[in-house]
Amino acid sequence: MSAWNVGKVVEHKQWNKTLHSLYIESDIEPFEAGQFVKIALEINGELVGRPYSLVNPPDSQPLEFFYIEIPNGPLTSHLVNLKPSDNIQVATRAHGFLTLDEVPAAKYLWLMATGTGVGPFLSILMTDKPWLRYERVILVYAVRTLSELSYQERIMQILTNHSGQFSYIPFVSRETSDFALTGRIPQAISDGRLEAQAGIKINADNSQVMLCGNPQMLKDTSNTLIERGLKKHRRFEPGQITVENYW
Ligand SMILES: Cc1cc2nc3c(=O)[nH]c(=O)nc-3n(C[C@H](O)[C@H](O)[C@H](O)COP(=O)(O)OP(=O)(O)OC[C@H]3O[C@@H](n4cnc5c(N)ncnc54)[C@H](O)[C@@H]3O)c2cc1C
Ligand SMILES: NC(=O)c1ccc[n+]([C@@H]2O[C@H](COP(=O)([O-])OP(=O)(O)OC[C@H]3O[C@@H](n4cnc5c(N)ncnc54)[C@H](OP(=O)(O)O)[C@@H]3O)[C@@H](O)[C@H]2O)c1
Repeated sequence: MSAWNVGKVVEHKQWNKTLHSLYIESDIEPFEAGQFVKIALEINGELVGRPYSLVNPPDSQPLEFFYIEIPNGPLTSHLVNLKPSDNIQVATRAHGFLTLDEVPAAKYLWLMATGTGVGPFLSILMTDKPWLRYERVILVYAVRTLSELSYQERIMQILTNHSGQFSYIPFVSRETSDFALTGRIPQAISDGRLEAQAGIKINADNSQVMLCGNPQMLKDTSNTLIERGLKKHRRFEPGQITVENYW
């Protein structure tokens, strides 16, 4: 396969003022849940490409991407104009290490995301692997406002399919609600609110933690977990924290 294929937009869903899901039919080499692929548009005669996590599970079409419009963003300010039957370039090969093949076995798997960083975890949760490998899987999904909590129906479906094994803990940082925890993930680990909500403790012996989204959240959460005795996971130096920075 060549490096790029011409994909066709089949759907473009808008969740709120800034959040969108883009569905593209395009051939792609086999990928692992949690990986990302580059998509690109020709803008003023130049190919502008960015990496996006695949939200759909492997072996499925269309490819699904969850993105936020960045004001004046070189690519996203153009992505928002795409409509069904438009063409878009899609790289043929996915990359990335935010996959369960890279994460050791443990009793508990914690998936912690801010904003669009929930995308790769949704792909992972649609596969068999987490349910075969971990006794409990906890999705922690943090956004600024309630209206930014996307994919709630899909998450509820996962809860139904895996009741007893799956917990969903949403965070909303800039509004209060009786549905979500308030504030930020690292603070809620430090003050015990996250573990109280999950009903289990995080420690180096029982947990693997995957983090995705805002780089500052990744840093602050990693530091909080390191204070608890967890360490960064590396292929040749196993630990408990696996991260993917979005910017
Ligand atoms: C491995 C990887 C996977 C990624 N997957 C996704 C994804 O699934 N969905 C997605 O929306 N973005 C994702 N991104 C970010 C994406 O590649 C683009 O950077 C983003 O869509 C903005 O593109 P842009 O050209 O409009 O602006 P850029 O010039 O690329 O970014 C401008 C600024 O926007 C902010 N920003 C970028 N991405 C985000 C974001 N996701 N949420 C909040 N603020 C952001 C940062 O402050 C950044 O400096 C991923 C990045 C990486 C490295
Ligand atoms: N979301 C919007 O309404 C909006 C509007 C216009 C433009 N944008 C653009 O989108 C980008 C922001 O997108 P976003 O809202 O998805 O992402 P975000 O700023 O990363 O916020 C998502 C969640 O992460 C939390 N967070 C931020 N820093 C953290 C840290 N160090 N530790 C723990 N949690 C942390 C936020 O909490 P806090 O709320 O406490 O920061 C929020 O709950 C901006 O770059 C901006 O250009 C967004």
